[in-house]
Amino acid sequence: MAAKLLSTGFRHSTLPENYVRPLSDRPRLSQVSQLEDFPLIDISSTDRSRLVQKIHQACARFGFFQVINHGVSKATIDEMVSVAHEFFGMPMDEKMKLYSDDPTKTPRLSTSFNVKEEEVNNWRDYLRLHCYPIDKYVHEWPSNPPSFKEVVSKYSREIRELGFKIEELISESLGLEKDYMKKVLGEQGQHMAVNYYPPCPEPELTYGLPAHTDPNALTILLQDATVCGLQILIDGHWFAVNPRPDAFVINIGDQLQALSNGVYKSVWHRAVTNTENPRLSIASFMCPDNGAVISPAKPLWEAKEEEAKPIYRDYTYAEYYKKFWSRNLDQEHCLENFLND
Ligand code: OGA
Ligand code: NI
Repeated sequence: MAAKLLSTGFRHSTLPENYVRPLSDRPRLSQVSQLEDFPLIDISSTDRSRLVQKIHQACARFGFFQVINHGVSKATIDEMVSVAHEFFGMPMDEKMKLYSDDPTKTPRLSTSFNVKEEEVNNWRDYLRLHCYPIDKYVHEWPSNPPSFKEVVSKYSREIRELGFKIEELISESLGLEKDYMKKVLGEQGQHMAVNYYPPCPEPELTYGLPAHTDPNALTILLQDATVCGLQILIDGHWFAVNPRPDAFVINIGDQLQALSNGVYKSVWHRAVTNTENPRLSIASFMCPDNGAVISPAKPLWEAKEEEAKPIYRDYTYAEYYKKFWSRNLDQEHCLENFLND
C-alpha cells in the first residue's frame, strides 16, 4: 500500500485506515511498565574492570543500556537535533525531492518502514543516510537546510569515535581482545536514520515503528530529550526507555548477538506515538563491512564443554542484510534464518 510523507504539518483527527493494526497487534500502552533498573553507564570511568563488568551485565540482561560522559559534545548534539527539526519542517515540495520508497536507495526520505512490502503502515517519516566514508557520501546529502552537511558530518565523526569505544568495551566484556570487533567487522559502514514521528490521533491503534531488532552491529540512539516513545521487550513484557537529555541509548544489533554466540541479545524494541508532540530520534548504525564474515567468536565456544558449538553458521554481512530487507519488520528474529543445524 502506498503511503506518502506524514510530516505535512496537517493534524489528523482520526487515524487513516492504512495505519490501523489488527486487534491482536496493538501497543496496549496501559500494560507498558517503567524500567527501574535500566543500566546507566558512565563510560568516562577510569575503573576499567568495573566498567567492563557493567557492560557485560547490561548486554547479557537487556541488550540495551544508556551511556553518559560519552565524549560527544553538547553543542554537536544540539546542532544535530535542531537541523533535524529544521529538515522535517521544510515545505513539502523541498522534501519530496528526496522521497523514495526504494529501500536500497540512499539518501532517501521515506515513510513508515518498507512501504512496498508491508500491509499496514507505520506513523513515522525518516531520512536515511550513509555516513562513512563521509567524503564519499556528503555530496549526495540534502543541501537544505544549508548547515545540514556540516552539522551531520561533525555529528557522525564524533558518534563513530563513541561507537569504536563501545565496541572495545564490548569485546573486552566477552573476554576477547580489545580490538576483536574492529578486526572482524572490517571497514565498518555507518548509517543514520533520522526518525520523525508526528503527533498521532490514535496511538493505541498503530506504531511509530513496530517491534524489530536492528540488523547491524551496534546502534547509538539519540532520543528526543522530552518526548517518550522507545520501548523494549524484556522477559515477554514491554518497558519504556525514557529519555535522559545527556545520554545515548546503545543497543546490541543482530551481528553482535551472532559474534557473541548468543551471550548478548539483539533485543526487540519499538517506537510508539503520542497525541501531543512530534518526536524525533536519531539512530546511528555501525555496520560490518559487506564482505565481513560473521561467525560466533571461537574463544566463546571452543574451550567449553563437549556439546558447546557455534549457534550460528558463518555468513557475510551482505547476505544477512539482503535477507533482512526482504522480510517484514515484525516477523521472526532474522538470525533464526542463520542457525546451525
Ligand atoms: C530504529 C529504532 C527507535 C526510536 O531506528 O531502529 O529502533 O526510538 N528507533 O526511534
Ligand atoms: Ni531499531
